[in-house]
Amino acid sequence: MKALVLAGGTGSRLRPFSHTTPKQLVPVANKPVLFHGLESLRAAGITDIGLIVNASGTAIRTAVGDGSAFGVEVTYIPQDEPRGLAHCVMIARDFLADDDFVMYLGDNVFAEGIAGPVAQFQTERPAAQLVLVKIADPSEYGVAELDSSGRIVGLQEKPARPRSDLAVTGAYLFSPQIHDAVRRIRPSRRNELEITDAVQWLVEQGRDVRAHICTGYWKDSGNVTDLLDCNRALLEKLTPGVRGTVDPLTQIGASVVIEAGATVTASRIDGPAIIGSGTAVKNSYIGPYTAIGSGCLVEDAGVEDSIMLDRSSIRGVRSVKGSLIGREADVRQGRQEVRVHHLVVGDDSLVEVPA
Ligand code: G1P
Repeated sequence: MKALVLAGGTGSRLRPFSHTTPKQLVPVANKPVLFHGLESLRAAGITDIGLIVNASGTAIRTAVGDGSAFGVEVTYIPQDEPRGLAHCVMIARDFLADDDFVMYLGDNVFAEGIAGPVAQFQTERPAAQLVLVKIADPSEYGVAELDSSGRIVGLQEKPARPRSDLAVTGAYLFSPQIHDAVRRIRPSRRNELEITDAVQWLVEQGRDVRAHICTGYWKDSGNVTDLLDCNRALLEKLTPGVRGTVDPLTQIGASVVIEAGATVTASRIDGPAIIGSGTAVKNSYIGPYTAIGSGCLVEDAGVEDSIMLDRSSIRGVRSVKGSLIGREADVRQGRQEVRVHHLVVGDDSLVEVPA
């Protein structure tokens, strides 16, 4: 079985981060979202991976390389423009040959991995199997309708009035029958070849299309709110360990990872939290659900439920919460006497200050 991992796309909902970094490389729990996905595939026994990247794809190629760091073998498949998920299947035809495969969206997070759905597909061998989650309002996603035996009988893409509470996640299991289907569909209203339409075509042909209901944590990390949510879910899974230097004045709570080369002085850290290598935390409070990357500085500050990317700093600011701080960004107390906000904020950024 192969995998087709999708890491093209523009990441417009994750601006400004996606101006400089593909959204799949933004870290959650100090590791790019895409790496969590590659590890899940490897854990499900899949090592032959086609990776769809956009025309340049340089950042992803640099980060993932030939895949050996993840115990997998990666073949890059460039996509000229984002033309839809079904288009990705079309351009991967040579790589996929006539093998079964998992199509995996590189910004999706399955905290329990995807070994369960892969095993179910290999046992039941349907034409296609979708991984579904129950969501109160699934109107932002593909939505599936099932019959009483659990077979999929209808699919809609982002319907205004969903016919069920079952959202289609970004893990799809396909037999080679999907290649016929992706050629039978027309572009959607958003001018993309939708995989939902291709699977619907299989359903209409009377093929066996089944569902795996995922009860574990799942999220599409496409915007900042969801990314912080993924960060919380994956921080809960970390194995705690203090490998950095911690002075006697510091209090470390449960579920804290301090990587080698990090230094923590006169601070308190309440987990789940991770502090990356080369980061210094001084006289500060790090609260639950915080992931601090490498080479950061947190001094006389308080941060919780946030992600700090590499080489960023927070100094003299005590109440940072629910925040995503970009690489080399600097958040600090002003030097002016007067109470003003002095801001140098990049394109598409969001800054919220107390009323
Ligand atoms: C895509 C699919 C949608 C699915 C979602 C899961 O949406 O078209 O059916 O529910 O991924 O992440 P997109 O992210 O392209 O809007």
